[in-house]
Amino acid sequence: MQLSGKRALVIGGGGAGIGRAVTNLFGAEGAAVVIADLDPARAAEAADQVRASGGTAYPVSGDVRSLADLEAMVTAAVESLGGLDILVTVVGGQVAFVPAVKLHEMADEDWDTIYEVNLRYVARAVRTALRVFLEQGTGGSIVSVGSVTGFMAAPEQAAYGVMKAGILSLARTVAAEYAANGIRMNVAAAGAIATAVNTAPTDEWVDEIPLGRYGRSEEVAAAVVHLASDASAYTTGQQLVLDGGVSVRGPFG
Ligand SMILES: NC(=O)c1ccc[n+]([C@@H]2O[C@H](COP(=O)([O-])OP(=O)(O)OC[C@H]3O[C@@H](n4cnc5c(N)ncnc54)[C@H](O)[C@@H]3O)[C@@H](O)[C@H]2O)c1
Repeated sequence: MQLSGKRALVIGGGGAGIGRAVTNLFGAEGAAVVIADLDPARAAEAADQVRASGGTAYPVSGDVRSLADLEAMVTAAVESLGGLDILVTVVGGQVAFVPAVKLHEMADEDWDTIYEVNLRYVARAVRTALRVFLEQGTGGSIVSVGSVTGFMAAPEQAAYGVMKAGILSLARTVAAEYAANGIRMNVAAAGAIATAVNTAPTDEWVDEIPLGRYGRSEEVAAAVVHLASDASAYTTGQQLVLDGGVSVRGPFG
C-alpha cells in the first residue's frame, strides 16, 4: 500500500467527485485520513465510506474561507491522527461558486470569492501545515488539485485560471524553501473530469480531447496518491497533468 502508516488531511474530501475519490483511495492505500468539508454530512459520509472498507477516517466540518476554521482542521487532524504527514487541498472551482462570464463582465466580489476558495485558503492551509511539519521534523508532502486553466487560457473562468496558476507558483516556492526539511509540494492539474460540475460532456468538447473521453475522478485520485506518497520522493514543485492530452495538442491535431 502506497500510503501505509501516513496521516493525511484532505480539505474538500467530502465532495462527490475528486474529493471523494481521493479519500476513498487514501483509505484503500493505508492512510489514516481526516476529511474536512463545508458540509458536515458529506464529511461524515466520506469518513463512513472509508471505514466501511477497513480504513481509518475522521470527519471535520469547516469553511475554507475562514482562517480559524482552516487552523481548526489542521489541529483536528494532528489531534485525531497523532501528527500529520500529508496535506491535500481539493476545494476549488469557478462555476460551482460564481457565474462563468467573460472577464469584463465579472463582478469584483465574484473575483474575491474565487480567490478565497481557490488560492487564499490553499496558501493558509499550506502555511499552517508547514508549521506542523517543521515542528515534527519528519518532513511532509502537500498536494493541491489544480487545473489546466492554471497554464492554459481559461475563457469565462479567468479568475479560476489565475488562482490555479498561483497554486503552482506556491508549490515551486515551497519546493525551494523547504526541500531541506524533507517537505515537498506538487500539483495534480486536471483537465475535463466527469464530475457534478462537468456532467454532460458534449461531443464537441470530447472531440478536442486526444484520448477521446473525459477523465475520471479516480484517475486524478491516483495521481494525488502518487504525489503524496514516497514513490514521488524526488519530485517537488511540479505539476502532474491529467488532461487526456489536451494541453499538448498543437494546430496539426
Ligand atoms: N471537475 C472537473 O472537471 C475539474 C477539472 C479540473 C480541476 N478540478 C478541480 O478539482 C477540485 C475538486 O472538484 P470537484 O468538482 O470534483 O469537486 P468535489 O466533488 O471534489 O467537491 C469539493 C468539495 O469541496 C467542498 N467545499 C466547497 N466549498 C467549501 C468551503 N468553503 N469550505 C470547505 N469545503 C468546501 C464541497 O462541499 C465539496 O464536498 C477543485 O479544486 C477543482 O478546481 C475539477
